[in-house]
Amino acid sequence: MHHTDIHHIAVIGAGTMGAGIAQLAAQHGYQTLLYDVNRDVLATAHERISYFINRLAEKGKLSHDEAAQSIARLRVSSDLDDAATAQFVVEAAPERIELKQRIFKDLEARLSDEAILASNTSTLSVSEIAAATDHPERVVGMHFFNPPALMPLVEVVAGSESSEQVVETTIALAKALGKRPVRTQDTPGFIVNRVARPFHLEGLRLLEEGVADIETIDRIYREAGGFRMGPFELQDLIGIDINYAASQSVYEAFDHAPRFEPSERQRQQVASGHLGKKTGRGWYGDE
Ligand SMILES: NC(=O)c1ccc[n+]([C@@H]2O[C@H](COP(=O)([O-])OP(=O)(O)OC[C@H]3O[C@@H](n4cnc5c(N)ncnc54)[C@H](O)[C@@H]3O)[C@@H](O)[C@H]2O)c1
Repeated sequence: MHHTDIHHIAVIGAGTMGAGIAQLAAQHGYQTLLYDVNRDVLATAHERISYFINRLAEKGKLSHDEAAQSIARLRVSSDLDDAATAQFVVEAAPERIELKQRIFKDLEARLSDEAILASNTSTLSVSEIAAATDHPERVVGMHFFNPPALMPLVEVVAGSESSEQVVETTIALAKALGKRPVRTQDTPGFIVNRVARPFHLEGLRLLEEGVADIETIDRIYREAGGFRMGPFELQDLIGIDINYAASQSVYEAFDHAPRFEPSERQRQQVASGHLGKKTGRGWYGDE
């Protein structure tokens, strides 16, 4: 399938990522079906997407007509059969391998043989998801970043069985959605979550060893490292539990390589329940 043959995109899961990806697809001219098992989530996502698109029109980034058309292109549904006519699917359901494998099987039973099935997984193996299907060559990774409507990067992940055509079409589609795709092999953490490990873990080690306090470490990353944020302020933004889970997942996938060993100090912080901005307090006090 060529990317110009794609007119209808289905997004599976209407949470943080799925809602943003659906917004992006509808805004870029695709008939978009947003599916979730939870109707309340769907209703909230629908409202939120319309709100964001209308705001773009108010700011003059879209005409009012374009905004209305974008919103009209979006449908939400809790019936997976409604995804059957999609030529391209992006799955953004919870990060659990059995769940994703089941969704891909269910999709395969409904969609045409040519349809491309992409997963937005951050840490799971695309090849392992694909292994549950009869046609693993049409399964690919399409890893967006949060928030998907704004972040330019997309990692396109070639699974061990993904066909070259499927990878190329996914790259072309990412470009058609206004993104800057990079191609990566199906390796734990892909590129971004892998390079992010030493960034976070070394900061945590400095803290654990008592070399400096949180504020100083963040400041040195910013001022000497040239990063926009240090590891502690960034973890407060991402969610410390999410960051810890990413470390655990990469550590497991690399057979407990010492360089990826998760931080005990971070584990304790997760156990304290102070997870960052989303709980009002994280490494830093009231947020
Ligand atoms: N949050 C991030 O920053 C981020 C960034 C990149 C990639 N991801 C990946 O994107 C995926 C989704 O993450 P999220 O943060 O949007 O999660 P989320 O929890 O916000 O949303 C997941 C949604 O999936 C729905 N769901 C549950 N079971 C389902 C099923 N069987 N079929 C369809 N939908 C189902 C839930 O109701 C929920 O609305 C994960 O694989 C995650 O690793 C997340």
